[in-house]
Amino acid sequence: MITVKDKTFVPFLEPTTLNARITELAYELNHDYHDKTPLFIVVLKGAFLFAAELFKHVTIPCEITFVRLASYQSMESSGRIKQIIGLEEPIEGRHVVIVEDIVDTGLTMAQLVRQLKEKGAESVEVATLLHKPEAMREPVVTRYVGFEIENRFVVGFGLDYDEQGRNLDAVYILAD
Ligand code: IMP
Repeated sequence: MITVKDKTFVPFLEPTTLNARITELAYELNHDYHDKTPLFIVVLKGAFLFAAELFKHVTIPCEITFVRLASYQSMESSGRIKQIIGLEEPIEGRHVVIVEDIVDTGLTMAQLVRQLKEKGAESVEVATLLHKPEAMREPVVTRYVGFEIENRFVVGFGLDYDEQGRNLDAVYILAD
C-alpha cells in the first residue's frame, strides 16, 4: 500500500508486467510501420514513462515529438477544446501515432485525432498504455492498448494524482 497526498493506493500493474506488455506493443508497431517512418506524438506529461519504455524497443525509422494539451473554454457548443502546444513538425501526409497514458472518457483523444486529421495526417492511430472501456463517452479507435482496466482511478508510471505519483515505477489503483 502507498499513500499519495491524502489517498491510499494498492499495487495494480507491476513493473515487469508493464514492461513486458509495452515491449509487445513496440513489436506490433515495428511490424505495422516498418515502411512508413511514422511520427510518434507523445502527450505530456502522463505518457513520459510509457514512451521511454516503448521507444527502447521501437527499432524502425521514426520521428518522436512531444506535445502538451491545454484546455480552454470555447464559445462553441462542444465545450472544452484542447489546444495542442509544442507541435512544430508538419503533419501533412504523415503517418501519426499518438502515444498517451490513458484513454478514459475518450474526449481528449477524439479531439486530438480530429485535429491531427484536419492538419492533413495520412493516418492517425492511438497507442495508449491504459484504457477504461466502461468510462468511454466518445468513441475513439485505440489500435494499440497496453491494458484494459476497470473504471477506477489509477496512479503511477507517469499518471498523477493531483500532480504527484508520476514517478512511481508501477501502476497503483485507488484502495476501496
Ligand atoms: P479523457 O479525456 O477522459 O479520456 O481523459 C484523459 C486524461 O485524463 C488522461 O490523459 C489523464 O491525464 C487523465 N486521467 C484519466 N483517468 C485517469 C486516472 O485514472 N489516473 C490519472 N489520470 C487520469
